Amino acid sequence: MRAVDIIAKKRDGRDLSRDEIGFMIRGYTTGDIADYQMSALLMAIYLRGMSTEETLALTEAMLHSGEIVDFSDLGRPRVDKHSTGGVGDKTSLVIAPVVAAAGVLVPMISGRALAHSGGTLDKLESIPGFRTDLSLSEFRATLEEVGAALIGQTAEIAPADKKLYALRDVTATVACRPLMAASIMSKKMAEGASGLVLDVKTGSGAFLKREDEARELAQIMISIARGLNKECIVLITDMNQPLGCAVGNSLELIEAFETLKGRGPDDFNTLCRELSAEMLVLGDAAGDTDRGRLIYDELIASGAAEEKMRVIIRAQGGDPRVVDDYQLLPRAGLQQTVQTPKAGYVQAIDTEAIGRASMLLGAGRARLDTAIDLGVGLTVHARIGHKLEADFPLATIHFNDAARADEAAGDIRDAYAIGPDRVEIPQLIKAVIR
Ligand code: URA
Repeated sequence: MRAVDIIAKKRDGRDLSRDEIGFMIRGYTTGDIADYQMSALLMAIYLRGMSTEETLALTEAMLHSGEIVDFSDLGRPRVDKHSTGGVGDKTSLVIAPVVAAAGVLVPMISGRALAHSGGTLDKLESIPGFRTDLSLSEFRATLEEVGAALIGQTAEIAPADKKLYALRDVTATVACRPLMAASIMSKKMAEGASGLVLDVKTGSGAFLKREDEARELAQIMISIARGLNKECIVLITDMNQPLGCAVGNSLELIEAFETLKGRGPDDFNTLCRELSAEMLVLGDAAGDTDRGRLIYDELIASGAAEEKMRVIIRAQGGDPRVVDDYQLLPRAGLQQTVQTPKAGYVQAIDTEAIGRASMLLGAGRARLDTAIDLGVGLTVHARIGHKLEADFPLATIHFNDAARADEAAGDIRDAYAIGPDRVEIPQLIKAVIR
C-alpha cells in the first residue's frame, strides 16, 4: 500500500477499507508516514466525510495504536466524562474530584487546547509541578490511591490521537464528525473506564454549530461505545455563549476551584451538577440522577470535593496550595475592560470569536510548536439576554503582550450582537440521550 494512493482515494470521495485506514494510522504513529501526508488525508476526510464503517475502523485503529488499559481488577466502577470542546468549558476540573469523592473511580484521558477551544491538560499544567504525563503504572497507582487520575494521551495510551489531535489543531481539520468521534472514543475506550458520559456541545462556540450535527455525532459515539461494551450517556448542551465567566487556562482553573467551594457561576455549576449526577448513576453511587444531584450538592457543601482536588493535585506532583492561594498560579500582568459600543440587550455572542480572542492573547496554539501563555484570557461579564447600558463592560481581558490586546478587544466587541429586543436565554441542556 502507498499513502499517496490512499489519500487520492479519499480525495476522490471513495470509502477506505479497514486495512487502508489501519495502514495510515500505524504508519503515522510510528513516524513512517509524514505530517504532510497525514495532513492531506485529514483534509480529504474533512471534505469528503467517512461512513459509519470507516469511522469505526478509524476509531479501532487509533484505539489499538497503544495499550488498552484494563482496570476491572480494581473492583469498582470506573466512569469518565468527555466534552467535544467549547469555550470556558472546564467541567472536568470540578467533576473529577466530585465523582472521585463519592467513591467512583475516574480515569480521565484529556486533550490540550484545540483550535478556539480550551484543553483540560493545559489548564492543569497551570498548576506548578502538576504532571499530566504519568506512565501507565503511575496512572493506575494514582487512580487506586486517590480515586482519580487526569492524564494526556501518551506513547502508551492512544498515541495516534496524541499526534493526530495536534496536527488537526493546526490544519483546520477539527470540526469533522468522524475525526472527532474517533479522537474522543479511541482515548476513552483505551483508558479502562466502564462507563462514559459525553457532553456534546452545539452552538456558536462549538465545533458543530447545529444541533442536528451534534445529535448525529452523539449517535456515532454511542454506537462505538455499545460496540465495545461500554455504558455511554450523552448530554447535548448549549455552547452559544462561554460556559461560566472565565476563558483561559489559569483563569478557568480558578473558576473551577471557586465552583468546588460553592461559589461558581450558575450555568457552569448546573452543568457540572448534571454531568456528575449522570456519572454517579453509571458508577453505582446513586440510584437515580435526583440522588446524584443531592450527592453533588453535599460533596460541594461539605468541602469534600475541594479536599479531593487537593489530594489529586498532590498525587500528580502539583502544589495543592494553589486551591487556596491563586497567586501561586500563572497570572497575566495587565488587564483591560472591553465595553459595549451601544446600549441594548445581548442578542447573541459569536463564541468561537471569543475563543479565538483568547487564543490571540496567547492562551491557545497557532502552530504545533507554539508555547501557550497560561495566565492570559478573559473574564466574560455580559451574557445572552443581559440588558446593557452604554459603556457597560462586556469582558475583561487579561494579557501580557499589549500588541495583541487591542485586536483581541476589537474581536470581543464584534462578537457581541446587541439590539433593542429582549431575547430568550438558550437552554443549557438540550437533550439527554441514553
Ligand atoms: N475532543 C477530543 O478529544 N477530540 C476532538 O476531536 C474534539 C474534542
